[in-house]
Amino acid sequence: MKWKIPPTQTEVTFAPDELIVSKTDPKGRITYINRVFMKVSNFTEEDALGVQHNLVRHPDMPRGAFKHLWDTIAQGNEWFGFVKNITKEGHYYWVFANVTPDFEAGRIVGYFSVRRQAPRAAVRAIEPLYTEMRRIEQEAGAAQACAASLAWLTAHLAQQGETYESFVLNLFQSHANT
Ligand SMILES: Cc1cc2nc3c(=O)[nH]c(=O)nc-3n(C[C@H](O)[C@H](O)[C@H](O)COP(=O)(O)O)c2cc1C
Repeated sequence: MKWKIPPTQTEVTFAPDELIVSKTDPKGRITYINRVFMKVSNFTEEDALGVQHNLVRHPDMPRGAFKHLWDTIAQGNEWFGFVKNITKEGHYYWVFANVTPDFEAGRIVGYFSVRRQAPRAAVRAIEPLYTEMRRIEQEAGAAQACAASLAWLTAHLAQQGETYESFVLNLFQSHANT
């Protein structure tokens, strides 16, 4: 089931020592959510288990960010990034996520995501980049959207000598307590 939740302008935050955790199968269907996930998003286990992880997808997120996530984890690598998510009421919360593949006998059997509250200064830095990616996606049309926005992000960060990973890790580490 795909929820169509109208977004509000209300932000939900959580404490620096709280972790939002979920697990999925290899196709991205949720197999586990922890209590903090439920508390922040207001989705219950009944809402979430067996459902695609785009359950908490916020319409402000560029598609290219998720292409980068899936390209990275499907190759067996871990992904770090900032994600704006939606709650059951349409409110939003920003997280810094670390998504890792779960291996059994050398095969990927699922994925884990562990998320912390995104520092405010980091959100201020990432938000304009995602806004520009969404503008590029609208201009490029559906078929080219992900490739076009991701190419722009990669080139933009390369000008500063950064990859997406080095950029987001620096952002998180330098603002971890803000
Ligand atoms: C372990 C794991 C955790 C994920 N966590 C999120 C999340 O918190 N928010 C989100 O929007 N997408 C998350 N995704 C990505 C979704 O599977 C999906 O690619 C994304 O929401 C875009 O959905 P769409 O292609 O239907 O627009 C996660 C994927 C995995 C494998």
